[in-house]
Formats: sequence, structure tokens, C-alpha cells
Amino acid sequence: MSSVLHRAINRRALLISCGFAAPALVSRVARTATDSLKELSLTAAPGRAPIVGGSYPATDVWCYGDRVPGPEIRIRQGEPVRIIVRNQLPEDTTVHWHGIRLQNAMDGVPGLTQPPIKPGEQFTYEFTPPDAGTFWYHPHADSLQQLGRGLAGALIVEELEPIAVDRDILWMLGDWRLTSDAQIARGFGNAMEAGMSGRIGNTVTLNGRVSEEEPVRAGERVRLRLVNVALARIMALRFEGHRPVVIAIDGQPCEPHEPRGARLLLGPAMRVDILLDMQGEPGRRYRVVDDFYDGLSYWLTQLAYDKRPPTRAHPLAAPISLPRNPPPEPDLASAERHELRLQGGMMGGGAMAGTGGMRGIAQGASWAINGVSTICDGRGGMPPLLILPQGRSYLMSIRNYTAWWHPMHLHGYSFRVLSRNGKPVPHRQSADTVLVPPKEAVDIAFVADNPGDWMLHCHVTDHQVSGMMAVLRVA
Ligand code: C2O
Ligand code: CU
Repeated sequence: MSSVLHRAINRRALLISCGFAAPALVSRVARTATDSLKELSLTAAPGRAPIVGGSYPATDVWCYGDRVPGPEIRIRQGEPVRIIVRNQLPEDTTVHWHGIRLQNAMDGVPGLTQPPIKPGEQFTYEFTPPDAGTFWYHPHADSLQQLGRGLAGALIVEELEPIAVDRDILWMLGDWRLTSDAQIARGFGNAMEAGMSGRIGNTVTLNGRVSEEEPVRAGERVRLRLVNVALARIMALRFEGHRPVVIAIDGQPCEPHEPRGARLLLGPAMRVDILLDMQGEPGRRYRVVDDFYDGLSYWLTQLAYDKRPPTRAHPLAAPISLPRNPPPEPDLASAERHELRLQGGMMGGGAMAGTGGMRGIAQGASWAINGVSTICDGRGGMPPLLILPQGRSYLMSIRNYTAWWHPMHLHGYSFRVLSRNGKPVPHRQSADTVLVPPKEAVDIAFVADNPGDWMLHCHVTDHQVSGMMAVLRVA
């Protein structure tokens, strides 16, 4: 990992001595309530953000609402929202409401579900979120550059009856490739990287800043919403001295459980809600470590306990299961089965034998699904890879024949994650983005109840735009 990450981390000492204050998560979304319809506006524009901090200059970014990450949008389950998006970028954009089961026309895919929003123009999105949970929004045009320059924000849909916690906190985890003067490095869309892990950066941020520490109090119960908005970086987080309990994955409640090996795996676009009972000692600090990549472990931040005595002697006894969301349960017995074969990339050649090989991989593409490469962020007239009659249950086996990890995302749906390599997945997990390790297979299932043309793609953005994308038509 290059020098900036090290420097950013060395700067932690400096942050302490200047009395660094954690950035407030105050939303700057303009709100004008009209009866039950909540109306918000969001402007995408160039801006500047103090990502590294200390003596480093602010970074030239592209952002929503003049900040990185964009404003935290909080809406209520089942309540309609209207969001007017204005484009002040020098190029076309759209907004995709990642994970929300909404109408196809509101899905934000340029050419496919709406015309792109031209510079100086605006587009009005309207939807009623059926599910409570942690979601996010990001552009679906020139994705590598627009997401890579900072366009991303959290979309939190509140439960009608939330569980009891002392604090509900959001950590948007970003990854930037910065030059030594803290500017975004050029070279988006490097073909070599596209065929490998994608554009992994050198500076990891928490809510848009390199974080030295996050203040906590002994005894408190925190609901922590983790969102990975990186272009390509996969994270595996460990909370030293703590036992996080997973209560939701990609916004969808699961049976509360401690993750395997006490590690939280978060590929790009994935979210995990955890409950953390702050059982550490007052006055101490505990590191949050990301050790996904061999030999490249670093700490993201520290939980910094203040000196006050614990707020309570024992962890809260209140229930920790979230109320279930309403996606229909797939009927596995009658489900129609399909296979989605992930193909291509570097160092995967041998494994391609018998899977359709590279034959379908178009010029300029690195990846394919079932031998077909779609190279773009979305456009009109994309032929569907599969046509799924509406209302039926589908079981899809996603088979990764490549040497790389792929967080596979399906728009417009939340699917059950049934099994990995034939072994049942415990804790009743659902997701909209599922991480498929090299040479492994994951079975998912859903009821095709939402009509439209839906994107299915890898959320490592370089992979998406260089072929690992398809359209599923529900009709
Ligand atoms: Cu967050 Cu098409 O994706
Ligand atoms: Cu991928």
C-alpha cells in the first residue's frame, strides 16, 4: 500500500495534539414537509473536503450537498419521499438508491430506466421504501470517476418501532487513492487493474475523514451501521476487545449472531448493522482493525472510552432482533433454477475451461457473466440476459470461475442467501449484494415480484464497467 496511507496514519499523533473533533453527522438536506410526502433536494457538484486533515490541503472532490460523504438521508418505512437531484457536475449523472425495492423508473440507471441528468438539469425521484434498514445512494453514470471522486451518501429507512439503543451511529467507509498533496490520483479505468482487484486506494476514511478515534462511553449500547462505499476495497473488520452482534445485512434483519471469527466482511456496497455493548474499560482505547488483505492490515480507528464510569453495570436486556421486512418468501420447491457464471479477469485462465471460456468476452472487456460482457454503467437497449416471468420464485447459483472476489449486486430486489458451496448459510440472511470468493458458489433466491429491467453487476466498479454486468428482465 503506498505512502499516503502510512502518512495518513502517522498523522494520527498530530490529530490528537490539535484536539480533533469528530465531524458532526448533521444532515444538510433541505427539507420542506408537505403533508405526508417528504421532499428533499440533493445537488451533485464539485467541492473540497478535508479528507486527510492535519497539514494536508483539502481534496478536490465531487460531492452531494457540498460534503463527503453526502448528507445522511433519513426517511421512514412506508412513507413516500420525493428527492429532487440537481446536476452541477461537468458531465451527465443519475442517482441509484442502492438496495431500495422501488419502481424500475426510479432506479437511476441511465438509458435503461431514465434519461441521464445533463449538467445544469434536474430529475425528480419518488418512491416509498417498503423495507426499513441501512441503504445508500450513489451515481450510476461514469461510476468509476463519480463514485471515486466522492459521490455517495447514506439512505437510512427507520423502522416504525426501532429497537432500544443508546446511540444509532453511521460509519461510511470510503477508500481513496490520493497523491502526496492529498489530491485524487488520475488513472480511473486502468485496464490492468480492471482485470484484477480494481482501483484500491491508499487512504481509508470514516465518514469522509481519516479517523484517529471515535468517542464512546462504557456501558452504552450502540447500533452501528457500517457501509462500504469504496470502489474496490474489501474490508474485514475486527473490534479489539469487543463482541459485535450482527443484526442486519444490507438493511435486511437477520437472526442476531456473532460473525464467524469475529470478523465482519464488507465488500464494496455492502452494509452490516451491528450492536456493540461497550464493555471496555473507561479511559482505554480499542482498535478497529481491517485485515482483509494478507500482510496489509491497518487500523481504521479506535473506540476511545471516556473516563466516566459505565452507564450500566450489565448490558441492556432489551431485545435485539429487528422487526422483519416484508419481501415475499421464495418457494424453493417450485423455484426456477438458473446459473450465473462469473468469468474472466487475470490469472483465471485455467479455470475457464468448460465454462464457455473467453469466447463471449468482447473487445475491451475483462469480465463476463455467462459469456456475455456488458461494458458500461447502463444504457438504452441493453438486451436482457434472462427474462423472468413475474411472480415466480427463482433460485440462482452464482458461480465464480475467476481468481478474484466479486460483490454481486441485483437492483430492485433483496434476495435470500441460501448456501455457499452447497452448505446452508445460517441466521436467515438476506442481501442485495453478496460477496462471492474466488472459485466459490453462492445460491440465492427471490420472488420476482417487481417488474422491470434490473441490473445485475459486480460492485467492484472496475469489474462492473469492464464487463461483469447483465440485465434481468422481470415481465
Ligand atoms: Cu450500488 Cu448498480 O449499484
Ligand atoms: Cu467483481
